[in-house]
Amino acid sequence: MLRQPVAWAAFLVALTAAERVREVRHSVPPRELCREVLPFPDSCDKLKTGWYKVNETGLQLQDCTISAGTDVKVQLDQPLIVHGNLTVQGSVTFEGPGTAFQQACLQVTDGVTISGSMVMKNCSNAGDSPWPCKDPGDNKGCGGCLQATSLSMEEGLLELRDCHSQGLGAGAALRSLRQRAGEMRFTKCAAEMQSGGGLYVGDLAQAGGQMTFKNCGASGAGGGLFARSTSTNGAILFEGCTAGRGGGAHVTGHLRQGPAGRLQCHGCTAKGSGGGCLSIYGNLMAEGYVEAVEVSAGSGGASVMWGFGHARFLSLSVSQARPPALLVNGLVAAQKLTSGPSKWALEVKAYEGIDVKSADCREVAECSFKVNEKWLTNFRQFLT
Ligand SMILES: *[C@@H]1O[C@H](CO)[C@@H](O)[C@H](O)[C@H]1NC(C)=O
Ligand SMILES: *[C@@H]1O[C@H](CO)[C@@H](O)[C@H](O)[C@H]1NC(C)=O
Ligand SMILES: *[C@@H]1O[C@H](CO)[C@@H](O)[C@H](O)[C@H]1NC(C)=O
Repeated sequence: MLRQPVAWAAFLVALTAAERVREVRHSVPPRELCREVLPFPDSCDKLKTGWYKVNETGLQLQDCTISAGTDVKVQLDQPLIVHGNLTVQGSVTFEGPGTAFQQACLQVTDGVTISGSMVMKNCSNAGDSPWPCKDPGDNKGCGGCLQATSLSMEEGLLELRDCHSQGLGAGAALRSLRQRAGEMRFTKCAAEMQSGGGLYVGDLAQAGGQMTFKNCGASGAGGGLFARSTSTNGAILFEGCTAGRGGGAHVTGHLRQGPAGRLQCHGCTAKGSGGGCLSIYGNLMAEGYVEAVEVSAGSGGASVMWGFGHARFLSLSVSQARPPALLVNGLVAAQKLTSGPSKWALEVKAYEGIDVKSADCREVAECSFKVNEKWLTNFRQFLT
């Protein structure tokens, strides 16, 4: 007598649970239909934690601060323009529709300062992009997700993913970028017609922190990064990035790396002539650690580097039979060159001379350095 109702109750409980599961599968609408989405206010002072939507054309704000402790999600059905500065102390996510605007999802006429967390995704810019990017607003085609005059990364996170642009800098187009600490991630950003898949920047100064470019691409130069000048004393990783030249990065001026710097290219490709990892028109002066693993180029040099201190190559693979690992028009000086097991030769071609202190070529088929004594003196003077 007692056992039956218990069994019956258990059956009922099981049935309701099953029904509930079915109900969840079939009749609960997607989460966004349940949450309250407010129109984006005319001032960021009015933002509270929650969901907002920019759906009216031409919303323009005067300065904007995302205060500490707030978590704001913004759905961008239209682009957003901030006149003045954007300051992110709390957490903000901007999500575009994926379909193209005629400008970046977010334009900031002055600077962006991040000490909290800012995520941008699913943006596409089909605007015109004259060369080079000037002030925000002047060149509509610059920046897929973000266009700003300057960016200051103090700490926290900036993540730009699935950003596209017909113009320069699919993730972000900036005149200058300063990173003190924190993490910047560029993922699956593509400049389909131009340069700077992840980031197009005039002057990049990284004092610390980490920058990661993952699966970014450009049909022009700089699959991950395109910069006029770069100084770095933090970590930069290019992973699976592709471009016409400079699969990881293209720098039109100098690249200077401090002793705490780590620059790594993993699986990057230049489809055109040079620089599976880096193509640098100025000088490369690396006092830190440089590593290129599984880097390739269509023809010419797998990695084009202009003079460096310490460099290590674990496995540099190239698509042609014997393209040089390093192809430099000036001089190459290296404290240490190392190569992991691979079928290609660790070959360095420098038209003005080579000064390698130590090279570990045990595992490679060919390892040759031709030293031009005449130029060495000049080069040593250049280095000091
Ligand atoms: C924008 O969204 C708000 C709130 O969802 C709605 O009331 C308004 O009609 C929308 N405007 C346009 C232009 O779609
Ligand atoms: C933006 O910030 C910078 C430095 O923090 C300041 O010099 C500039 O005046 C600000 N711009 C505006 C429009 O407030
Ligand atoms: C991203 O954009 C595509 C259109 O390209 C759209 O179908 C998709 O829903 C968007 N994703 C999100 C998460 O909004």
